[in-house]
Amino acid sequence: MAYSKHIYDTATDKLNSRRMSALSVADYRKEQVYNLFPRLKEIEQSLTSIGVSTAKAVLSGKDAVKELTSLKEKSTALQEEYKALLVKNGYSEDYLEPHFVCDKCSDTGFVELDNKTVTCECYKKLLSDTACEELNKISPLSLSTFDTFKLSYYSETPDKNGNIPYNRMSKIYSFCLDYAMEFSKKSKGIIMKGSTGLGKTHLSLAIANEVIKKGFSVVYVSAPDILSKLEREHFSYEYSREQEIMQSLFDCDLLILDDLGTEFSTQFTSTAIYNLFNTRINAGKPIIINTNLTGAELENAYSQRFVSRVMASCLMLDFIGSDIRSLL
Ligand SMILES: Nc1ncnc2c1ncn2[C@@H]1O[C@H](COP(=O)(O)OP(=O)(O)O)[C@@H](O)[C@H]1O
Ligand SMILES: [Mg+2]
Ligand SMILES: [Zn+2]
Repeated sequence: MAYSKHIYDTATDKLNSRRMSALSVADYRKEQVYNLFPRLKEIEQSLTSIGVSTAKAVLSGKDAVKELTSLKEKSTALQEEYKALLVKNGYSEDYLEPHFVCDKCSDTGFVELDNKTVTCECYKKLLSDTACEELNKISPLSLSTFDTFKLSYYSETPDKNGNIPYNRMSKIYSFCLDYAMEFSKKSKGIIMKGSTGLGKTHLSLAIANEVIKKGFSVVYVSAPDILSKLEREHFSYEYSREQEIMQSLFDCDLLILDDLGTEFSTQFTSTAIYNLFNTRINAGKPIIINTNLTGAELENAYSQRFVSRVMASCLMLDFIGSDIRSLL
């Protein structure tokens, strides 16, 4: 997957600072602990000089097996003494070693596999998270959480269809809370349907916040914003930027597409939407879609076949009530 230079630079900076901070914590600890227990420093120096002797013995080319064995024994004994001294004084054995975020690559971003240097999973994740963050910058995750969502805004009087908004919304609220708590990469998608001001954006952001806390990558975008941005990049021939945005929309664990149906519809936007949904549905990756359109309006705006395919991959939540904003 190709990311822009900006994404690479940002992710690489993060990786370097992880590594540097692990190394400097270890250096700092050594300084403190060596002051208290100078024997540790002596051991470290002896180990270094054994290392040098070992290298010399190997390079000398003569049969150095005996010498090497003796050096190895000395070094093992010193290492044991070093660890024992730490433990005796209340530290863990590895207290003075750098503690990298990723054990596999020691935060270098690369590992050896079958004699080849390959990108470590942690670096791939960092790149994809950075790309998500860049997208979320366009539409920052607000402070909409489950805690700030109030059910008291919904009426307990039946609406014209005989449904009680308070009851319906209580169910929707618990559904969304469970969904967020049990989220996995294979969760179903959700369609939140209903007129403006009923809390669709609020609840989908609440889900986003919880799912992010669990360590998943989430992209929240509004359909009109992202589609016009993609279209702009496309027609200014910024294909790599367009591809990068598309890739983040495909790759993230959870995509939230807000206000679907309010975009200015063109051939380009329709194709982008079909493409996006097909790719995610085929990969079994969840999308949360919010829309003010009714089922019939959706079929009118896209195709009936497309709408039924999307619906089959999603759970439908019908929001009812009256515009919360008139109560705020
Ligand atoms: N149940 C609720 N409790 C608290 N605030 C709410 C609730 N529902 C909506 N809001 C607030 O009202 C405003 C409009 O809601 P929003 O989620 O944007 O509605 P929608 O996306 O359905 O149009 C937002 O500021 C949102 O935080
Ligand atoms: Mg909304
Ligand atoms: Zn790694």
